[in-house]
Order: sequence, then C-alpha cells, then structure tokens
Amino acid sequence: MNGRVTLTRPIPEAGRRILVEAGIEPCILQPRADAVVDRDDLLRAMSDSVVLLPCLTERIDEPMLVANPHLRGIANFAVGYDNIDVAAATRLGISVSNTPDVLTEATADLTWALLLAVARRIPEAHAYMSDGRYRMWGPELLLGADVGTGADGQRRALGIIGLGRIGKAVARRARGFDMRVLAYGPDRAAIDAHEGVEYVPLEALLEQSDFITLHARYTHETHHIIDERALRRMKPTSFLINVARGELVDETALVRALRARAIAGAALDVYEDEPRMADGLATLDNVVLAPHIGSATVGTRDRMATIAAMNALAHLRVERAPNAVNPHVYETEAYRARAARYD
Ligand code: DGY
Repeated sequence: MNGRVTLTRPIPEAGRRILVEAGIEPCILQPRADAVVDRDDLLRAMSDSVVLLPCLTERIDEPMLVANPHLRGIANFAVGYDNIDVAAATRLGISVSNTPDVLTEATADLTWALLLAVARRIPEAHAYMSDGRYRMWGPELLLGADVGTGADGQRRALGIIGLGRIGKAVARRARGFDMRVLAYGPDRAAIDAHEGVEYVPLEALLEQSDFITLHARYTHETHHIIDERALRRMKPTSFLINVARGELVDETALVRALRARAIAGAALDVYEDEPRMADGLATLDNVVLAPHIGSATVGTRDRMATIAAMNALAHLRVERAPNAVNPHVYETEAYRARAARYD
C-alpha cells in the first residue's frame, strides 16, 4: 500500500493495532498527550501524508488541505468535525470521516453526571468533606435543586437543544427522572415524531426549562446560540449544561450571568477557546467544570480508535470510508483524480 498515514497524536492501542496489522507504521506528530500540535509541524505533515488522522484539537483549514495534492482522506478522531473545513476538502476531492454512534451513551452519561453534580453541589460537598469541615449534619447544609419531581410535586423540565443521537440518549435517561422533556432543533418533524419529547421554539425552551442541555452541532447558525439575550430568558433557578462545543455559548456572557445569579448554575465539559476558559469562570462557586471528557471511557475511546483506524485504511485504499461525512465526494472528478495519483 502506498502512502504515509499521519496521526497527529497517539490514539488507543486498539486503533494503532489495526493499522500495524495492515502493514502501516503510522507517523505520530506529537507523541506527548498534553502538548499541542504545532501548526507548522502540522502543515509539514499535511504536505507528505496520504491520510491524516487528527483529533478535534487540530484545526484543518483550507491552506493545509491545499498543501498536499496526494492527501486522500482525513479520519477525524471525533464525532464532531467542525475542526475541519469539510467544504474545502470536498471541493479538493478529499474524503473526511468521523467516529459516530460509539460515544453516544458515554456522552449522555456525562451530561447527566454534570447535571446532577451542579444541581446537588457534589464538587462542593466533596471539598467540604476532604477539607475536614464536616462537623454535624444540618437542616440547611449544602442545599441543592430538585432534579425530577420536586418536594412541591412539580415535574421539572429538561430542555434539550439538538435532538440528535446524544440528545435522544439524554432524553431517554430523563424518563427515569419523570421529567417533562422539551426539545428544540432545526428538524421539527423529527422532534415531533420522537415519543415523550415536546418540540418548542428556542425562546419557549429557554423560558420554561429548569435544565438546558446542549447537543447541537457547531455551525455558523449555532454559534453563540446561548448568548446574553438567551441567558436573560432563562429562569434564575435554571442550569445550563454544555457537553457539545464551547462555541455554542458566549462564555463571557455566561460568566456575567452566573456571577449575577441570573441563572442558578452551569456545568461545562467544553469551552470556547480550549483549553483556555473565560476570565473568572474557574473561580465561580456555581459551576462544575470538566476537561472535555464526554467520550472519555476506556471502552468508548477504544471503539473510537478502532473506527478512526478503519476509516483511515479505507481512505488509504481508495475505498468508501464507513463513516464518510462527505460521501458525495466519491462521485467527484476531484476525488477520482486524487485517487489515481500515487506517491
Ligand atoms: C467528539 O467526538 O466530537 C467529542 O467532542 C470528543 O469525543
């Protein structure tokens, strides 16, 4: 098989094994797990790789794609692919793939873990114990918010923005809490067809929900879908949970809203400019923060690595990748021309 396969960062063994067993010794651009991939190194790697297997941390823009006429495919190690200029890749005849399905349940679990943690103040409770501050049980010690049906007999409302695979898995878990589930997304018919979920316009979702969870894809249309105005519409007792993409939220406006107690709290797994956080976010007492670990279970990351490696092999062999996000590229002259080129 011709061509070099470049991994921007190490991936779990399950994926590396697939490549090695296929006779490929992949090149790893940044072997350190905690270091960024330098843009110039990435540009150089782009210019002599036939297949690239990047993580969501690497921005693959048009100049990078143009740098190499031999690049056949990009096997993203993520379900989201907003780090790649897919439109430019398609125009240039480059196939792009992702790792869908396998991280749905793990990400839905983390959504609920964060929701419960912020509502019931679990990190504060843990710090209270580990600091040795627990002297006596108290009727008003660390009071949190009701999640399901409260002591007042009222069902709490969960508002889901983006009812795709992960949004649906979050909704399924809400049944166990007997919550009213509202959803907003571009495909109203799909939401209407989903049992146990009520479609509502965005404004109504913001105004009626006790918990809002974000699962929308990041696009121009969803940029800052939660901005200052949206935050102002939310109930002062409500919570925001973001496990999708940081850019869905105006993080500076969120810090202001949290500081002013305009909403009760937020739990975030993703940030606008990762790994940076907006000034003041980390020191607030009404947030729970995680370092983008939605899909971080051993089993899920193994399966993501397996899928990314299978996609990479398909790109290399000029076959249709099992998880191509731009499958129409295979019908284009630009793709055929690239496929015919050997290094
Ligand atoms: C993804 O896959 O898009 C997540 O953000 C990380 O697993």
